[in-house]
Amino acid sequence: MSSPIEFPAGFLWGTATSAHQIEGSPLADGAGPSIWQRFAHTPHLVRDGDTGDVACDHYRRYAEDVALMRSLGTNAYRFSIAWARVLPQGRGAVNSAGLAFYDRLVDELLVNGIEPMATLFHWDLPQPLQDLGGWENRDCAQWFADYAAAVFQGLGTAVPTWLTINEPKTIVQVGYTYGSMAPGKQDPVAAARVTHHLALAHGLAVQAFRATGHSGRIGPALNLAPAYPTSDAAKSAATLADGTENRLYLDPIFKGSYPADTVAALPDPVRAALQSVIRPDDLKITSSPVDLLGVNYYNPVFIDPNGRYVTVKPTSVATWEQIYPTGLTDLLLRLKADYGDVPLTITENGIPEAGDVVPAGGTDDDQLRVDYVRDHLAAAHKAIAAGVRLEGYHLWSLLDNFEWAQGYTQRWGAVYVDFTTQARTPKRSALWYRDVIGRNGI
Ligand code: FCB
Repeated sequence: MSSPIEFPAGFLWGTATSAHQIEGSPLADGAGPSIWQRFAHTPHLVRDGDTGDVACDHYRRYAEDVALMRSLGTNAYRFSIAWARVLPQGRGAVNSAGLAFYDRLVDELLVNGIEPMATLFHWDLPQPLQDLGGWENRDCAQWFADYAAAVFQGLGTAVPTWLTINEPKTIVQVGYTYGSMAPGKQDPVAAARVTHHLALAHGLAVQAFRATGHSGRIGPALNLAPAYPTSDAAKSAATLADGTENRLYLDPIFKGSYPADTVAALPDPVRAALQSVIRPDDLKITSSPVDLLGVNYYNPVFIDPNGRYVTVKPTSVATWEQIYPTGLTDLLLRLKADYGDVPLTITENGIPEAGDVVPAGGTDDDQLRVDYVRDHLAAAHKAIAAGVRLEGYHLWSLLDNFEWAQGYTQRWGAVYVDFTTQARTPKRSALWYRDVIGRNGI
């Protein structure tokens, strides 16, 4: 056996989830509708007509789920807060019954020695705000900051680490450009406006957090994809892809600017739309200092000389996911080199099985997930050994759950969920992860 790879003392070993993907009961206790509820209830947009109406029933089973986390030995948990539970109209009066759910969840985590990491927004925009233009409307940035302030006030200092917006790139690219996620638009001009308004919203929420005087930490959660050329002739195309995949989201936060080459390469109306919504002091707001950067890593991108994205590495049943652990080492080293020594945490990383997998002999033998996580942890460790300040790893996901437009056809959990009975059964990977955590290494 090779010698174990040990992680730094105090390393955070967590799992990650998001509200709409696990909670169910979306309208309980006075909550308002969200764009994901609307999207899933629109025929033909989600596979098999699935919805998040029940999902993992976590809203009612959260205590059981926290006990599960504890049994796996995890010492951290990343979850998200549903804006429409806290503010059913998206703004205005706080629904204290909705906020109380997160209060109970956070208490349960703390009692069990699990550090809460709360994401303020993981895609479930209140529908009443979408009706007012959603992220295309500049006002949405301030609505988000006001919502964030209500959450900071409501949960106080019980949450030590906050994440603002999960994966703005996915909202821009998938929600507004390809249209296969809520709100389902195929409008690159709107997407350009949304790009900036999300960065602005992030910055205003950071400022709202500082205004509370709370001692906790706050930062963004970005999905980043190292861009590799397939040959020397593809180098400049890969640099451009790095701009649209990474720098477009990192630079306004960490450098107070948009990447000039990336902006210059946008088609005229898209570039004009982006430039027209950037007001004089906005980039000071977007670059309000943060305390950490959350990194979601699932795949690199490979670019051919014509600028086309090509699949070079093996994929999972999520065909957008190319499995390339070395990409994670490269990404973490690059973040340190180009964006300073900000503390990093892996906020998501994982692999799905097909939805129809049935556990044999009671346990789902998900060796593919053991291999995937082990190889990515080894890759992360290489970056730590090279001096990167990586503080934690959050496996996506704790539970099989509602995988957005894919419905329940992909199982991303370390814990198997029988969606008929809601029984939870740790997969082989969960038991393996427990042992990794126990020895603080692989
Ligand atoms: C990420 C999302 C998360 C989940 C995983 C598989 O992009 O943040 O909600 O869908 O992909």
